[in-house]
Amino acid sequence: MAYTRQTIDSAAIERQRAICAEIFEKVTADGARPLALVDTYGCQQNEADSEKLRGYLAEMGYGFTQDEFQADVIVVNTCAVREHAEMRVLGNVGALNHSKKARPGQIIAVCGCMVQQEHMAQKIKMSYPIVDLVFGPHELWRFPELLRAVMEKHRRVFAADKNDGAVAEGIPVRRDGTVKAWLSIMYGCNNFCTYCIVPYVRGRERSRRPEDVVAEARALVEAGYKDITLLGQNVNSYGKDLDCGVDFADLIAMINAIPGDFLIRFMTSHPRDATEKLFRTMAACEKCAHHIHLPVQSGSDTILKRMNRHYDRAKYLEEIATARRYMPDIVITTDIIVGFPGETEEDFADTLSLCEEVRFDAMFTFIYSKRVGTPAATMPDPYTREDKQKHFDALTELANRISGEKHREYEGRTLRVLVDGETGKEEYNLSSRTNGGRLVHLRGDKSLIGQFVEVRITASNTWALYGELA
Ligand code: 5AD
Ligand code: SF4
Repeated sequence: MAYTRQTIDSAAIERQRAICAEIFEKVTADGARPLALVDTYGCQQNEADSEKLRGYLAEMGYGFTQDEFQADVIVVNTCAVREHAEMRVLGNVGALNHSKKARPGQIIAVCGCMVQQEHMAQKIKMSYPIVDLVFGPHELWRFPELLRAVMEKHRRVFAADKNDGAVAEGIPVRRDGTVKAWLSIMYGCNNFCTYCIVPYVRGRERSRRPEDVVAEARALVEAGYKDITLLGQNVNSYGKDLDCGVDFADLIAMINAIPGDFLIRFMTSHPRDATEKLFRTMAACEKCAHHIHLPVQSGSDTILKRMNRHYDRAKYLEEIATARRYMPDIVITTDIIVGFPGETEEDFADTLSLCEEVRFDAMFTFIYSKRVGTPAATMPDPYTREDKQKHFDALTELANRISGEKHREYEGRTLRVLVDGETGKEEYNLSSRTNGGRLVHLRGDKSLIGQFVEVRITASNTWALYGELA
């Protein structure tokens, strides 16, 4: 496939911001503050995209609400990775009928990965007349222009054409928190795992320039953020399309050199190209969290091959061993798909045994979901949903047991954690994260939010640790 890296230059984004100012004049003319609701499904990349949508909306003068009956503009940012998420989106968009009836001028937009699939854009066009605007991930940078077209022309706008994607710098961002921040370092995916829709909807891999990433990281640190997560579908490919001699490990080292007390996290890594250099760099950079999310997907070589993952069980285990050699305390988490087409009892047993061998700190498990247009969708799949559910339940039980055992090992230890928010519960009112990203509940004054503190772990369960200030 031809690869064309397109850059949306700053002048283009300035024009979008000028449209924001234009919309501001119009929607605030009566002195009242209009409200917007941005609803996000799916991964952290989508959360980061929603922060850009909110950035634009804030420049247009909108405040934010969670109540669809109060909202003048609703944007639903969708996910296409599994059918379940798509069903939820369609159900929830359908239900917006009520709010639109109650507020006739309400504008409803649906964006993101789901609508980048042609059959889904069509479905919304035909069956969801309440939706005024549909745009794919590649059009996000020109959301102001699209919204203005809906407002001025009073017609429905659809913008989700096939596209390799571009890199746009300078879109305003309105972040949710004040402690943790997402930082996209690259977009798209070139891997074409046979089950996955992402490469079809998010386009080809393209990296932001290292100087742009470092400048954003520096601004985040200066603004007081303490926990920065570098985002990409496969961060280990960072820089390959740039030809500037900076790979992902180098990028970590560059961010690590920014003065300040903060943590660097990243996701997601693909095992096909997690290098020894990466682990060495993580160990050498004192601000880099000792955590890697390394989705294995399956423990069976047959299935890995059919998934087009480009590694086998032995290579994966070798990487885990290397990671632990450099960082004995590294937290390792993973994703696993159960019930890939043709997965047998034997294949599944290989997955169980791999999990026992690695002892993941946490596992995100999914039942295979058929995605239109992917190679796996046409592979023979003789096993029933019940077979798959049985395997899924067995894997979940194993995952919970191992997480519980690993959490118990923390009891009695004193650790440095970053307090990141309130739990809303009385007994343990604060939530925090260890360097490795494990959740710790504790009690303390909320002025501690945003600070690193020492805690002694006193109790644990499958999902969390509990501690007291040391
Ligand atoms: N069915 C089930 N799970 C999937 N994932 C990606 N595509 C599918 C699919 N078609 C899972 C993978 C990936 C995670 C983000 O979602 O495990 O790592
Ligand atoms: Fe999908 Fe594979 Fe790319 Fe991850 S690496 S987004 S699973 S194609």
